[in-house]
Formats: sequence, C-alpha cells, structure tokens
Amino acid sequence: MEFKELIKRRRSVRSLQAGRTIDKETIEEILRDTQMAPSYRNSQTGRYYVVCDPEKMAKISNDLLPERNRLGSRNTCAYIVTTFVKGIAGFTNGAADNELGDEWGAYDLGLQNAYFVLSASDHGLDTLIMGIRDAQGLRALLDIPEEEEVAAVLSIGYRDGEPALRPRKDLGEIAFFS
Ligand SMILES: Cc1cc2nc3c(=O)[nH]c(=O)nc-3n(C[C@H](O)[C@H](O)[C@H](O)COP(=O)(O)O)c2cc1C
Repeated sequence: MEFKELIKRRRSVRSLQAGRTIDKETIEEILRDTQMAPSYRNSQTGRYYVVCDPEKMAKISNDLLPERNRLGSRNTCAYIVTTFVKGIAGFTNGAADNELGDEWGAYDLGLQNAYFVLSASDHGLDTLIMGIRDAQGLRALLDIPEEEEVAAVLSIGYRDGEPALRPRKDLGEIAFFS
C-alpha cells in the first residue's frame, strides 16, 4: 500500500469482526517488518509475546484489562504483549548514557510498535494499542522475566465498520522552526 494511504488507513480499532482468524505466518511477517525499526545502537530490546491460546486470551480479556479495553479488544484474533529488556538500550557497561536511562528502551519499543501497527494495516488488519493493563498479571501468565518491562498489549483483527478519524493538533502546536 502507498505510504500516505497506509498511515491514513491505520486507526485504533475498537470494534472487530467476530469469527475471523489470522494465521501464524501472517503474524510472523508483521513481526519481521517490526524488526526493521531503528533501535538504540541496534540493541533490539523489544519482545513480543503472541497469545493465541483461548484460555490465556480469556484470562487477559477478563482479568488483566479494564472493562473499556476488554470491550475494545473483543473478537481479537490474538493478544500481543510487548515488553523490552531493561538496562541495555541507553546503557554502556551497565551505566546509563544519559538522564533517560530505560526510557530509551520504551522509546525503541514504541518505534517498533509503530512498525507493527503499520505493517498490520498493510496486511489489511487492524490493531489497538492498550497501555492500561495489569502488568504483574501479564508477567505471571506469560512467565515474562523480571529483566523485561511490560509495556502495551495489542489486539489485532479485522475492523467491523469504519473507525472515526481522531483529530490532530495544528502543526504549529507541535513543530518549532528556527
Ligand atoms: C502508548 C499508547 C497507549 C494507549 N492505550 C490505550 C488504551 O489503553 N485504551 C484505548 O482504548 N486506546 C489506547 N491507545 C490508543 C489511543 O487512544 C489512540 O492512538 C489515539 O486516540 C489516536 O487515535 P488513532 O490511533 O485512531 O489515530 C493508546 C495509544 C498509545 C500509543
């Protein structure tokens, strides 16, 4: 898909078609695209836990997401729990390179997740990034090691209807030329 068309098509989708599935190969393709994102010294500390098991998905939906996100991710084909390994991006020999420390790991994961949602859209799929989730519950359910910080949970599926385009600020509010 042409890039401008792709970024316009990508929306946070909170209403997905029931009864749809996505094969593992498609998710792997999206993850390979995701791996092409830049990262701090190419440290590639983002991790993706793809949850397709119906029991685990029900646990995430019912117990580890707030009501709003449970409803917003209903009919998802999988939950993708994203984490990053701490103490690497932004660090040299264990010492933080600057004041941001592990925020660089979160920064890199955000970049990767941007690639993920755009690649998903390019595959005709829709996503929702969910930052409101029970990190400890996800860690326990998926045996996520303590060295990793649990960040967002993503849903993925096929849109049911046309999601609204959220407004954006005027360019002058966010960009400053000098
Ligand atoms: C880091 C992050 C966390 C988010 N968390 C949630 C969430 O918990 N629940 C939700 O419904 N949307 C969540 N969103 C989606 C945003 O609300 C959405 O991206 C924003 O309103 C712009 O809409 P658009 O994605 O359709 O362009 C999150 C987005 C990001 C980037």
